[in-house]
Amino acid sequence: MTPTTTAPHTTTGRPLEPGQLRSAAQRVLTGNWAGASTVPSRGLYPHQWSWDSAFISIGLRHLSAERAQQELETLLRAQWGDGRVPHIVFNPVVPLDAYFPSPDFWRSSTAGAAAGAPAGIETSGIVQPPVHALAAWLVHRADPKTSHRRGFLRRVRPRLAAWHRYLAEQRDLGGSGLISVVHPWEPGMDNSPCWDGPLSRIEPADAGTFRRADLAHGDAADRPTDLDYGRYVRLVADYRDRGYRDLVAPHSFAVEDPGVNALLVVSEHALAEIAAETGADPAPHRARARELTEALVGRLWDEDAGMFLCRDVRGGEPIRERSVTGLIPLIVPGLPRRVVDALLRTASGRHFGLGTTVPLVPSYDLQGHAFDPHRYWRGPAWFNTNWLLERGMRQYGETARADALRASLIDAAGASGFAEYVDPFTGEARGTRDFSWTAALALDLLTAGPAGLEAAPAPAEDPAPTTQTGDIG
Ligand code: SER
Repeated sequence: MTPTTTAPHTTTGRPLEPGQLRSAAQRVLTGNWAGASTVPSRGLYPHQWSWDSAFISIGLRHLSAERAQQELETLLRAQWGDGRVPHIVFNPVVPLDAYFPSPDFWRSSTAGAAAGAPAGIETSGIVQPPVHALAAWLVHRADPKTSHRRGFLRRVRPRLAAWHRYLAEQRDLGGSGLISVVHPWEPGMDNSPCWDGPLSRIEPADAGTFRRADLAHGDAADRPTDLDYGRYVRLVADYRDRGYRDLVAPHSFAVEDPGVNALLVVSEHALAEIAAETGADPAPHRARARELTEALVGRLWDEDAGMFLCRDVRGGEPIRERSVTGLIPLIVPGLPRRVVDALLRTASGRHFGLGTTVPLVPSYDLQGHAFDPHRYWRGPAWFNTNWLLERGMRQYGETARADALRASLIDAAGASGFAEYVDPFTGEARGTRDFSWTAALALDLLTAGPAGLEAAPAPAEDPAPTTQTGDIG
């Protein structure tokens, strides 16, 4: 198929200037602000999501340092006593039927009480990739003065450390030092073909026992299937019914995912910086980052595939599917150069086609048996994964590739109306529009310098600054 170079266009067909694109991204983020955090999208995802908020804060830092800090603080306020950061924090004013599974399905405050779920806030009981310490550090670096004044790092550091401790102590289910995900929603790539094998062992919940709300907001062809949902529901119900405790019985779904573990490594490095900045000892975080990096390469690197593979902990085997999650470790510093070179070759080779057949890395193997350019994580290109790969290329000195990917990401975000994901060949918008992390990450690339850390210029129209500093520590 011929690659389509996308370019941001106005309704009259003229390309948008960077300034117009910046304003459009800002409008999305302002429109999706819900008072103390940002919804990923008004219709499809009307609550707060964990890894969405981390990526959103990375864009918000260019609009309002306070708002970016508050985004993360609100999420961390819903942290459980055992350290887990839930993947959804429910907004009590949103009607129950606006999203499924709703709080009355998760029942966190009662079913999760033994694991320390907060009493006054309803949340989900599973987690998402630990990208928060990285986000907190980037948010701090954008405006250290405001961060110091609000005691931002001092207040979030213990929460972030407890979060990483939960993962280390409760989620090393394979005994390798790496953490496992226990539900396809945890790595955030819900219907990746990587889960097809492990999920096939799960008896789906009866379709009559739940009602999907997602199909009211998008094309069913862009979303997971009913069979997938039956299995997602079964896994949640089983986890809930044992009090969301991890070590009391084996999880029937347990996978070591390279992207999730890579994000943990990067966040451990960020936590080391945060510790040093706040007068705490960075050494344990640096040591943990080193151990995790060794385990990641030792356990999940696959020389033949030229990328990292997921590992099915229950089956004890690598999962032989090429997903973008296996390229994400490019963001980990200090990888052996042969691994870096192989990852770059794989990204631009026939399976992912970056810069040859497609402008953005797709979520799944273009040649794969399960490839579908429209269906959620089975082929479409997503903006957060491409943002991570852009950073990875840049840190390994691949400036030309990083610049090209940056330009493609910004173009595709604008041209698609900040779509949730796009057809990797045509750039056609799929999923929902005005999606917060797409706007946030495009804004970040438009605004921040190559190191991704520079303070941004003052925005033209600042969203109303927030004054609340609510203590979360
Ligand atoms: N991605 C899930 C959904 O589609 C939730 O985490 O609802």
